[in-house]
Amino acid sequence: MFAKRTQEVEPFLAMEVMERGMAMARAGTPIVQLGVGEPNFDAPPAAVQAAVDSLVSGETHYTDSRGLFVLREAIAQDCERRRGVAVDPDHVVVTSGTSPAILLCLNLLVDPGDEVILATPHYPCYPNMIAVCGGKPILVPTGPEDGFVMDVAKVRAAITPRTRAIFLASPANPTGAVQPKEVVEELSDLGIPILSDEIYDGLTYDGARVTSPLGFTENCYVLDGFSKRYAMTGFRLGYLIAPQIAMRPLQSLMQSFFISTSQFVQQAGISALAHGAEHVEHMRGQYAIRRRILIDGLRDMGLSIPIDPPGAFYVLVDMRHFERDSLTLSFDILEKAHVALGPGRDFGEAAEGFVRFSFATSSEEIEEGLRRLARVIPQL
Ligand SMILES: Cc1ncc(COP(=O)(O)O)c(C=O)c1O
Repeated sequence: MFAKRTQEVEPFLAMEVMERGMAMARAGTPIVQLGVGEPNFDAPPAAVQAAVDSLVSGETHYTDSRGLFVLREAIAQDCERRRGVAVDPDHVVVTSGTSPAILLCLNLLVDPGDEVILATPHYPCYPNMIAVCGGKPILVPTGPEDGFVMDVAKVRAAITPRTRAIFLASPANPTGAVQPKEVVEELSDLGIPILSDEIYDGLTYDGARVTSPLGFTENCYVLDGFSKRYAMTGFRLGYLIAPQIAMRPLQSLMQSFFISTSQFVQQAGISALAHGAEHVEHMRGQYAIRRRILIDGLRDMGLSIPIDPPGAFYVLVDMRHFERDSLTLSFDILEKAHVALGPGRDFGEAAEGFVRFSFATSSEEIEEGLRRLARVIPQL
């Protein structure tokens, strides 16, 4: 009855655990949510004010499909500031979140039967979006023993005449891995378009430094947005930076799929870029504190954390010794400890037996989650 490609789209299991947790909360059982990547911070006040002012002044219309020029200009300046690479505002397309930016790029590059290479464990939506375009995700395993760093030789071996793109996510969800400069450079030299998801750029710890392939190759599509760095998930604002040759077809896809991104939301983005730096730095400092509380607390319980994640706001915990699949384990923990977590299975076979903890929530919630978990661990 429904198109075959919808059967390729797996449910997002962390959301399923979260939703069960919400139902339990509605029935009177308070749940600590450590499962999803939702910053608990408010958006930068200047961004909120800019959205309000924009709405009040009647900016409720379509814009240029590529986004307001002032925002594209600000994104280009931000790119130069953060990545040290100058880009033309005409190479920027503003989207309603990073997710549509990914979807636009895959629609641009992938024909039915084409292949897209990505490291696994991986963000669950990548394979789903590739499959919806008729493409085949080619998973290249990464492991805790090498810090979830991509092995370029394995990537090279996975390339076939059908390879259309290589995903690079640094810092990555769910591992928090940051790919070293040499790896990014070698991947950029393979001659295949790089889809570089940089949504967690800026959220790094212990001196980790993110390298963008934009500095090495023009055959690169940067996927980025305001959700995580600026705690603006609900605004739905993202963008992509693409090579000149791709701009016309991307513009046509954008016109047909989405027409344009909300005008008042774009104004919020302009303001976040102009005035949000201090807010972002404050949040990063708080994440660094929460990260230590979570990692130390889990280790004190005897749980195994293969790497202290250098970026993003997730900790992937090895729970294979509990001898049940990660979804069953997550539901067991939800029922017994009233803590919602992200089952590893969401992130591919390579993460089965692992569970993802998010430290995007408050220190108090994290500490309460740890106390609850410590009580039930002996019963698991
Ligand atoms: C790696 C990665 N890319 C993209 C997204 C989607 O973000 P957005 O809210 O900008 O659509 C997420 C959200 O969790 C993510 O973790």
